[in-house]
Amino acid sequence: MASRIFPAVPRVGRQLFQSVPKSQCRPFSAGPQRCSDSLAVGNKCGLGSLALTTRLYQHRNKPTNNPSIPFKFSEQNLKLADEILKRYPPQYKKAAVMPLLDLGQRQHGYTSISVMNEVARLLEMPPMRVYEVATFYTMYNREPVGKYFVQLCTTTPCQLGGCGSDKIVKAITEHLGITPGHTTEDGLFTFIEVECLGACVNAPMVQINDDYYEDLTPESIKTLLTALKESATATDAGKQVPAPGPMSGRQSCENSAGLTSLREPVWDPETMMRKDGALDAQQQ
Ligand code: FES
Repeated sequence: MASRIFPAVPRVGRQLFQSVPKSQCRPFSAGPQRCSDSLAVGNKCGLGSLALTTRLYQHRNKPTNNPSIPFKFSEQNLKLADEILKRYPPQYKKAAVMPLLDLGQRQHGYTSISVMNEVARLLEMPPMRVYEVATFYTMYNREPVGKYFVQLCTTTPCQLGGCGSDKIVKAITEHLGITPGHTTEDGLFTFIEVECLGACVNAPMVQINDDYYEDLTPESIKTLLTALKESATATDAGKQVPAPGPMSGRQSCENSAGLTSLREPVWDPETMMRKDGALDAQQQ
């Protein structure tokens, strides 16, 4: 009898083990906790922790940025918003979410939760849809930035072109006393590194607010930052800052070594072709 029972024991045990739901057999693990967003690293300044927090994927209420702070478009910007809305069929007005967020950012200084909520109200969209757009595009700053938002391109062409963006990073860091991702204590400059801004042929380059400054050298970026600071703190409003564009004397993106091709005179039918009767005159 026993010889008939014992061979069945391992098989029964295996069947019993297999019948236990797999989810109950998963081992516990205690790996490092992974956050789904990049956390801010602040500095001493009130505006600190800027650029990194601009990349946060979730909103956290703060005294300066929470839904109870009212935001309304100014009268002038409401007119602009109306103009923008006219570009879209009324049933698709939510397509205007990006320009309206931009308008809100320009008025308020950054895209706060109240700006996003106001845009959602204007466009009759669920606020979450607006948050999704604002958190996807890095051009929407969800934390305050300095008066001058210095975005230095450090993608490969800018890293290799001209003197190279590494030297520009070093020059800015030395001149402003802040590393990328921070704001100066006077609130004038926020400095971040960004990816290609589409002006690679004039590398290295930086975007400051809406302007591109190109063909940079450590000296020219320091001169530029000094001029911007002087213009912001000057009592007379006429303080000049360098014009945007190449800082090397180039007009645009022409070859800085001069023309290397197409140096012959342009073919002109008026001068290059035989005039009527010219051949007859030669034969005579
Ligand atoms: S790589 Fe810098 S602008 Fe394109």
